[in-house]
Amino acid sequence: MTRSGREPDEHADILAEGLARLRDLPWRRTRDPWAVLVSEVMLQQTQVVRVVPRWERFLERWPNPRACAAASLGDVLGEWHGLGYPRRARDLRLAASACVERHGGLVPDSLDELMALPGVGPYTARAVLAFAFEAHVGVVDTNVARVLARRAGRRLRPKEAQEIADAWVPSGLPWAWNQVVMDLGATRCRATPDCDGCPVDCAWRGAGRPHPDPAVGSAAVSRRQSRFQGSDREMRGRVLAAMTTDDTELAGIEQRLRSEGFDPGRVHAVVESLVADGLIGRDVDGRLRPP
Ligand code: ADE
Repeated sequence: MTRSGREPDEHADILAEGLARLRDLPWRRTRDPWAVLVSEVMLQQTQVVRVVPRWERFLERWPNPRACAAASLGDVLGEWHGLGYPRRARDLRLAASACVERHGGLVPDSLDELMALPGVGPYTARAVLAFAFEAHVGVVDTNVARVLARRAGRRLRPKEAQEIADAWVPSGLPWAWNQVVMDLGATRCRATPDCDGCPVDCAWRGAGRPHPDPAVGSAAVSRRQSRFQGSDREMRGRVLAAMTTDDTELAGIEQRLRSEGFDPGRVHAVVESLVADGLIGRDVDGRLRPP
């Protein structure tokens, strides 16, 4: 019993606190499955503040799967520029085509059909189910996985984390619940947590936050992204940026990177990986060109 004379109710407390401080993000004002899918793919590896303007622009240009499927890969990659990890753009366009071919131009509403779309894994599929279709599933991203492991007071395997997350969703409130728990993980239950007044009935906190932190090494809890400067990711971005500038820029990009001091062997490997991924093409005479 609390001092207010009320039984503690973890769900009610988490929802009350979480809804009061829920971040106002544009994809939270829609239930359109395509818009939600695009947001989730962008958010997979890019920060919220960077995604907001890009998500709006992308949807203005391609408001549904049919429009995106009809676009060229070069245009979609161009629109993606700066978001990083361009394979996501390639796969999103392929997913749009699959929606047209298999689902009459609509994003499907079952886990299996969603997971059969290119680039859509268990996390993204469940995020679309919860945030577009308001289905009763738990959404486990890296932030939520931290909450789950600390609450359980032990490391969790992926399957276990998913089962716990599913069972934790209060009936009838999958949308609000998942958004709230996601924000709790993103803003409060961070690597260095802010436990003051946290509404979670947390085993780790109850035990005095002993070492090791159960979130470390738990399912889906990622390590920091590797350094960007001088990385293969930076080179990939530079090559794709050259492609959206003009054809001569693209033809000269390998030479330019080498002259900037990038290792010739790595430049070659990066360009070949882009060709292998279908993100750029190569003429018979070896010149790089748009896909
Ligand atoms: N990251 C992934 N999905 C998100 C969402 N719906 N809101 C905020 N951050 C997210």
